[in-house]
This record gives sequence, C-alpha cells and structure tokens, in this order.
Amino acid sequence: MTDYLDYDPSEIDRRAVYRLLTGAVVPRPIGWASTISKEGVTNLAPFSFFTVVCVVPPMISLTIARNPDGSEKHTLKNAKATGEFVFNIVTAPVWEKMVDSANAIPEDESEFDDTGLTPLGSVKVVPPRVGEVPIQFECRVHDVIEFGPHKHPLLVGEVVHFHVDPSCMTDGYIDMEKLDPIGRLNGFGYSRLGEIMHRNFEDGQPR
Ligand SMILES: Cc1cc2nc3c(=O)[nH]c(=O)nc-3n(C[C@H](O)[C@H](O)[C@H](O)COP(=O)(O)O)c2cc1C
Repeated sequence: MTDYLDYDPSEIDRRAVYRLLTGAVVPRPIGWASTISKEGVTNLAPFSFFTVVCVVPPMISLTIARNPDGSEKHTLKNAKATGEFVFNIVTAPVWEKMVDSANAIPEDESEFDDTGLTPLGSVKVVPPRVGEVPIQFECRVHDVIEFGPHKHPLLVGEVVHFHVDPSCMTDGYIDMEKLDPIGRLNGFGYSRLGEIMHRNFEDGQPR
C-alpha cells in the first residue's frame, strides 16, 4: 500500500493549494481572451483555467483570478462592460508571444501592439480575433459566477461564432497534428502533444 501525502486544503496556504491543483490538472489548454474596453482599447491575455461547459448552446468558461489587491483583471472588466470576448486557441508557433502577453500593462495600452500580433475583425462581436491562431470563438457573456471568500470569478460565455482555418482540418475533423496546440503544465512548464493513441469501437463512434 502506497503511503500517500495527505493535505487538508483548509490547513495549507493558498499557494500550496494552487500548486496541487495546477500540478494535477494537466496539461491545460490555453487560449487568449481578446476584449475591448468601453474606451475602445483592445486587450489580450492568456488563460488556462478554461473548459467547455455546454454544447447546445456552445458555452465555454474561463476562471479569471482577481489581482492581488482584489480588483478585476482587464479581461473580466472589459467582458463585463461590453458583454463580449473572443477566445483564441493558442498553438505552438505563438506560444512564447502568449507567455509574454501575460505581463501586466497599463489599461490604456494594448497587448496587440506589444506583441505585434494581428487583430482580425470579428463577425458578430466587436473584440478582434488573433490572426496568428487557427481557431477563434466569438463569445457573448452568459454569466459571471463568483466563488469563495475572495469572490473568485468564473466567466461563462456562449460561443456565437466559430472560426476554423481549414489548413488545420482533415475530413471534417480538427486535426491534432495540424493544430499543434500548447498545454500549460505547472510552474513555467508547457507542453506540445506527445504520442496520440486511438481506441476504436465497433460502432465507429468515439466514447
Ligand atoms: C499560460 C498562462 C495561463 C494563464 N491562465 C490564467 C488563468 O486561467 N486565470 C487567470 O486569472 N490568469 C491566468 N494567467 C495570468 C493572466 O494571463 C495575467 O494575469 C494577465 O496579465 C491578465 O491580463 P488582463 O489584466 O489584461 O486581463 C495565465 C498566464 C499564463 C502565461
């Protein structure tokens, strides 16, 4: 019988809890949220606490921690103010720019200018897409739910438009090799896909 290490989250500090969560929930997909402020300044920031919430209608969620002083990150502030954001799937060719774009910059400056990434016009929402990635979700804010004593916000968005570059598709499916997504591990670690395994069933339907 293995001797596990046991932790009661109420008895360890929040950094230790963060280390357990981000070390165990891996690899996490990464997307760039692009938003625009009421004043018209575009904003870009990466998020890895991201997942699918619902298929009909399509919904995704991002967990956007508060700044240490309790204020809201620009992404959340803009998404709440305008009701819109775009989620751009981060791929290997741009992963270093993605990391650099997480540096905090003043609200009246845009990470699009800092990184040199291309803002592409969206179809149904105002925030631009990131032109260098092959998949973008245009989203309208569905809800912001706050958890725990620090009112930790979860942003839920309905995807109102999908953009997929055909060069990352094969036979109508998004092709993992062509997509070349990036995952966040713990600490400063990131990963690309390793070996891809397939397990086929007689009815041909994936489980
Ligand atoms: C790979 C990566 C993933 C990140 N994931 C999250 C996340 O899920 N939630 C979060 O609050 N911050 C996350 N961050 C930090 C934000 O990107 C960072 O705080 C950013 O400056 C917020 O920008 P904003 O104030 O313009 O919204 C992540 C950073 C990196 C590099």
